[in-house]
Amino acid sequence: MTRRRVLVTGASAGIGRALATVYAAEGWDLILTARRKAPLDALAAELSAAHSCDARVILADLGVEGAADQLAADIQAQGLTVDGLINNAGFSRTEGFLKTPPEDQQAMIRVMLTVPVQLSRALVPGMVERSFGRVLNVASLAGRMPATGGDTLYGPIKSFMIKASQGLWLEMRGTGVHVTALCPGYTLTEFHDVNGTREEVSSAYPSWMWQTADHVARVGWRACEANRPQVTPGVMNNLMAGLAKHLPDGMALSMVGGHAKRLKRI
Ligand SMILES: NC(=O)c1ccc[n+]([C@@H]2O[C@H](COP(=O)([O-])OP(=O)(O)OC[C@H]3O[C@@H](n4cnc5c(N)ncnc54)[C@H](OP(=O)(O)O)[C@@H]3O)[C@@H](O)[C@H]2O)c1
Repeated sequence: MTRRRVLVTGASAGIGRALATVYAAEGWDLILTARRKAPLDALAAELSAAHSCDARVILADLGVEGAADQLAADIQAQGLTVDGLINNAGFSRTEGFLKTPPEDQQAMIRVMLTVPVQLSRALVPGMVERSFGRVLNVASLAGRMPATGGDTLYGPIKSFMIKASQGLWLEMRGTGVHVTALCPGYTLTEFHDVNGTREEVSSAYPSWMWQTADHVARVGWRACEANRPQVTPGVMNNLMAGLAKHLPDGMALSMVGGHAKRLKRI
């Protein structure tokens, strides 16, 4: 039987690492990408030993212009066919719109929005041609919630990814290509260490609000196999998003604004 291969962005840590592990366990070969070589090499070695898969590492900084084209060219140069695309790489900045350097804002938009669009545009046509494909976009519960201050661009970027996934899901019906937006809530990864908010979020949010990356990845895998356009792991996360949807905009904004103030973000 032909083996399938999935490209996982942001595979050096957290949810990306967990998703790569799930796909390897489910019999897929891998292309692992991120900026840090050591964790990618270690994961490739671990997963190929555990699951007899072919795991390739391609280093890429997806925050620089042209990164998606370069990554697609590197994949083609190695003669690899991509049957699955996991747009997972991401980060947030929480110091406020005016305090975040413009180049960091551009990098956020590239890594979590422009590159996923470009990689989908480059790789999905081949999936349609072969009548098989999987696109799993790691969005966020933040994309289903009211706007927040401090990390002003993060929510809208994730909302974009949810809507874009839904549109692509509609277009891909009947082609064999599944499309899913995965919308995790608070997840135990390096994310909050990278954005410097570990202490504040650990004290602000009780342990029951946190999920493991392994759980989130399993939920994402199952939803994508079932071709669900969107999935949010956890009953409480779904309840919060459902409630937020029904609040008047003004009330939702002042609730979230008060919360951001308590966290000293605005
Ligand atoms: N943790 C949460 O609470 C949470 C909740 C909802 C959604 N999410 C989303 O889940 C996704 C994964 O985040 P995570 O929680 O697993 O965070 P994480 O542990 O910090 O992992 C982030 C991954 O993205 C990669 N990355 C960051 N900037 C990059 C760049 N410029 N170029 C290439 N790769 C880059 C990192 O690799 P390198 O540093 O090696 O490049 C790393 O592999 C993100 O899209 C995030 O928005 C997270």
